[in-house]
Amino acid sequence: MAIKSIKDFMKKKGKDKIVMLTAYDYTTARIISKTNLDGILVGDSLGMVMLGYKSTLQVSMNDIISHLDSVVRANPPQLIVADMPFMSYEYSKKDAILNAGKLLKHGADAIKLEGGIEVASKVSSMISAGIPVMGHIGLTPQRYLEIGGYKIIKDEEKLIKDAKALEEAGAFSIVIENVYADIAKKITETINIPTICIGAGPYCDGQILVIHDLLGLGEFIPYFAKPYLNLKEEIEKTINQFSEDVKKGKFPSKENYRLRENS
Ligand code: KIV
Ligand code: NA
Repeated sequence: MAIKSIKDFMKKKGKDKIVMLTAYDYTTARIISKTNLDGILVGDSLGMVMLGYKSTLQVSMNDIISHLDSVVRANPPQLIVADMPFMSYEYSKKDAILNAGKLLKHGADAIKLEGGIEVASKVSSMISAGIPVMGHIGLTPQRYLEIGGYKIIKDEEKLIKDAKALEEAGAFSIVIENVYADIAKKITETINIPTICIGAGPYCDGQILVIHDLLGLGEFIPYFAKPYLNLKEEIEKTINQFSEDVKKGKFPSKENYRLRENS
């Protein structure tokens, strides 16, 4: 059964794996609502895969809200987590609380923000305001300029400190992205809240992928994702078939149209 509460989410640690995907629209969220997926992330990856931005830095609160709204309208039984976009929480605790609060008002069950020690005091102020927070450490794409690209993050000591700081601040879970599997394992064993991994190996409490990478829709599929389908190819084939059928007069055929009676 899908997870709807933060408590159930946390209880899975050490028992069942937690499985999440990103989703950004009504139709996909309707399909997901019939599955045994545990959680949906309205990730700021929507900037690239839905809006064609160069990076997640261009994503605005309005972008997240518009996609969050469409997922919420699908009324999925899964926990809905919404990403805090770049510059919605960096400047002040007040920004962080008000913007996160807005996402909850729009139907998110929790928010996710990037960073470890740097954001711990903001995380605790959000928790004080009643906002469930998911952390995100390792590769934090909103800092790709500072990091120098979408690199594997290797500083074990810093990663463990970050994870502990987030746990202490009250985060209910942490995404670990693009980190050596043995480091992610150590983090998972060190903290008492669930770790959800992407590109960080199998020794985590859960896994998350961008849905475009799972379905083979993404333009660039990272090595750590497994495309279970090649939907891009299927869609291309289908569109070409449709186009050909129209040109050859095969579509619409009798089943696809009506004639007036007596005509
Ligand atoms: O925005 C996103 O898709 C994410 C996941 C990769 C964790 O943050
Ligand atoms: Na994100």
